[in-house]
Amino acid sequence: MGIQIAPSILSADFARLAEEAAAVSNADWLHVDVMDNHFVPNLTLGMPVVESLAKATDTPLDCHLMIEDPDRWAPGYVEAGASSVTFHVEACRAPIRTAREIRAKGARAAMALKPATAIEPYEDLLSELDMILIMTVEPGFGGQKFLEVCVPKIRRTRQLLDKHGLDLWIEIDGGVSADTIEQCAEAGADVFVAGSAVYAADDPNAMVEQLRILADQ
Ligand code: DX5
Ligand code: ZN
Repeated sequence: MGIQIAPSILSADFARLAEEAAAVSNADWLHVDVMDNHFVPNLTLGMPVVESLAKATDTPLDCHLMIEDPDRWAPGYVEAGASSVTFHVEACRAPIRTAREIRAKGARAAMALKPATAIEPYEDLLSELDMILIMTVEPGFGGQKFLEVCVPKIRRTRQLLDKHGLDLWIEIDGGVSADTIEQCAEAGADVFVAGSAVYAADDPNAMVEQLRILADQ
């Protein structure tokens, strides 16, 4: 499957999303943070913007839903053009049904865990998913400090997947930079979201390549 680098457009200029997507043409996926001001204390964008962005770029869209009631909304994001749709398990009432609906519509289904949420209670769900997103900051804002305390959870998740013979992606989101990416890769992650590290760089595409090289060692 290989390393995937997913710049987060949360750190981009929302008035110029198509250009900002084009500025990271080396990216494997484009990470789109959907926030509803309820699940997290911030408000970003929703389905109409995802639909327009999907038409404006060839890069697959990786939609991270930080919203209440993802059971209701997640399938619509596949129809809007997302290649992967991630729901937070803390907000989801029927994760298996929601994952099946996302997959049935043709996207990857992923489950996200906040820093304080353990993976072990969800062991039985793993076979229903394509990816686990492990948050390494509290969801809601870009530019926060990487929480090193989450790294053992990456390792435990990879061990659980190996135990069940499952080859899911493990995605890391929050505070990923040239300083923090290697320890995540070493622990078993293979998809890396980076917002501020990429968009604050002088050359965002060069930063994508640098992150890929560091993760691939
Ligand atoms: C935070 C979002 C992240 C955010 C990461 O809640 O889920 O995707 O964009 O931003 P950085 O990479 O700046 O921590
Ligand atoms: Zn995110």
